[in-house]
Amino acid sequence: MGNIIDGKSIAAGVVLHICNETRSFSERTGLRPGLAVCIVGDNPASAVYVRAKEKRALEAGFTSRVIRKADCTQAELLEQIDALNEDSEIHGILVQLPLPAGFSERAVIERIAPHKDVDGFHTENSGKLSCGIDDGFVPCTPLGCLHLLRRHHASLGAKIEGKNALIIGRSNIVGKPMASLLLGENATVTIAHSRTRDLADICRASEIVVAAVGRAGYVKGDWIGEGAVVIDVGINRTAAGRLVGDVEFSGAVIRASGITPVPGGVGPMTIAMLLWNTLLSAHRSCSLAEPDLLLDC
Ligand code: GUN
Repeated sequence: MGNIIDGKSIAAGVVLHICNETRSFSERTGLRPGLAVCIVGDNPASAVYVRAKEKRALEAGFTSRVIRKADCTQAELLEQIDALNEDSEIHGILVQLPLPAGFSERAVIERIAPHKDVDGFHTENSGKLSCGIDDGFVPCTPLGCLHLLRRHHASLGAKIEGKNALIIGRSNIVGKPMASLLLGENATVTIAHSRTRDLADICRASEIVVAAVGRAGYVKGDWIGEGAVVIDVGINRTAAGRLVGDVEFSGAVIRASGITPVPGGVGPMTIAMLLWNTLLSAHRSCSLAEPDLLLDC
């Protein structure tokens, strides 16, 4: 179908661009961008995500360090972060979430040096994003969604500016940073959440819909307006073991001008943007001009 936004192939293009920029960075500096990922506990989904991040980082020519702790205290994790903050080979630090019960995720995130916080979750980076200051880090999933939206609009000869954009979900990881990014594009932004009334009507009036609720099929196909662009951030497993998004795909795809599938939509973009943020951090650490995230890469 011509209106499918193929995140998998777009992410592959971004990763190729990152590989080329990494080669040029390494030739100029003799260094490799370095990414450290900490994983605590035994969450099986987290283990899968971390292996994927490690594999992609190595493929891009990065140094990848994965610190696996089956069981540790918060104080030990904070000490580990302190060591990575001081480590000149490491430009990006990510602590995989969720952390086990009893950890304060906020305290752990705040311990990461903001200039190595490639997840963009530190309050210094979220503050910069909401103030429109562009020398911080933008969280990877919303950054990937923005790239898909920019590309899709460019391919139609259309603009994001002035569009009615609806974001369903108000998390710190996706909903709130996505709202800041779309405001930065001069869209008119609505954030909906579990207490929102008349969501179906708001959705029907929206030209851009970003669904980040974490509930299979929460957004019904007939809520999508004719020609709207739908970015489905959800990754939900059905009872039968199938991966599905937050949007009822079959009903939405016949109305939308563009829609991301699950899997193969937003997911691959998230890792690509993690590599991108790490590459930016490596450039900043050497006071080199930052590369551009080209729309046609
Ligand atoms: N767990 C699920 N998504 C993410 C993410 O983007 N970053 C981190 N650190 N943990 C996650």
